[in-house]
Amino acid sequence: MKIDYNILEAAKRPEPTEENLGFGKVFTPHMFIMEWEKGDGWKNARIQPFQNLSLSPASTVFHYAQEIFEGMKAYRQEGDRIVLFRPTMNTARMNRSAVRMAMPEIPEDFHLEAIKRLVDLDRDYVPHEFGNTLYLRPTMIGDSLTLGASTAQRFIYYLILSPSGAYYPRGLSPTRLKVEERYVRAVKGGVGASKTGGNYAASFKATADAAAAGFDQVVWLDGKENRFVQEAGAMNLMFMIDGKLMTGALDGAILPGVTRDSVLQIVRDMDIEVIETEIDINDIKKWAKEGKLTEAFGTGTAAAISPIGEIHYDGEAIIPGDGQIGKMAQHLYDTLLGTQYGKIADRYGWIEEVPVYEDR
Ligand code: COI
Repeated sequence: MKIDYNILEAAKRPEPTEENLGFGKVFTPHMFIMEWEKGDGWKNARIQPFQNLSLSPASTVFHYAQEIFEGMKAYRQEGDRIVLFRPTMNTARMNRSAVRMAMPEIPEDFHLEAIKRLVDLDRDYVPHEFGNTLYLRPTMIGDSLTLGASTAQRFIYYLILSPSGAYYPRGLSPTRLKVEERYVRAVKGGVGASKTGGNYAASFKATADAAAAGFDQVVWLDGKENRFVQEAGAMNLMFMIDGKLMTGALDGAILPGVTRDSVLQIVRDMDIEVIETEIDINDIKKWAKEGKLTEAFGTGTAAAISPIGEIHYDGEAIIPGDGQIGKMAQHLYDTLLGTQYGKIADRYGWIEEVPVYEDR
């Protein structure tokens, strides 16, 4: 499918200043968009000025939350090379989310080309400062014009780009998390492993309550026994216990994070044992008391590596190690961001350059 460039009237937006960019607050001048119709498949692929969508109030997405998305980043390396990090992991995950949510898949090569063409066009908006990135948000919504509660017959896919700073305003510094003991995020067999908006909507109440109590995020426990650690807000969770790295197994309720996968590979290559398993929060509490829990951190595309200074559970504060940025979190942060910004060699072949398309 050919991608049309309908950009004649696109106003060039001023490039945002890089201080206090925040996360996902400003957008580049263009967006990619296409539609899917039963019988036709994907069509009308085009790059156009960033603009509002016009949708019927009956549209499926508004009533039944048939929506999926991805989170990716583009980085500016030396010589103004613009690169993506493991983008095919995101295109593949989006297709898995699509299957689970009864939505159409997108041919991966085409999806990747659309991403690269849009980032190329708006390459001037990829931030220059280390730690700042162009955040990419591929999104798909169901758009049937009927209130019947079944999968839409029409879908819209779009991609928008946001020059962004650190996800947590304090950057790389220890976060305070609160274990959520009333609500659950996901159960096995549900949609926890899919990147679908409803997972996040369902988390807002708990997150807002935790924020009001002075915490940065909540830790989710499993929905059946309410004791196995799943993930935290926008991150997978990792614990250093007795020199081993432990994280929740991908049991269908946990999002298979790209940063999670990358971290596990880096750690395995350090000859450190990685254990993917069910992790009981009561064991975490016990290991902290015994001095075995030396570090905890979250991983995610938006948050990168986020050290955890405290986990509040059952009226007590669990403090991993000394509550500061641990050695492993710092090493992983340096390795991942170093690779992404081209400061160190890309030993895993995770970096893909965004070409300059001459035919736009
Ligand atoms: C990401 O890490 O990219 C995410 O999608 C998390 C998002 C909810 C901010």
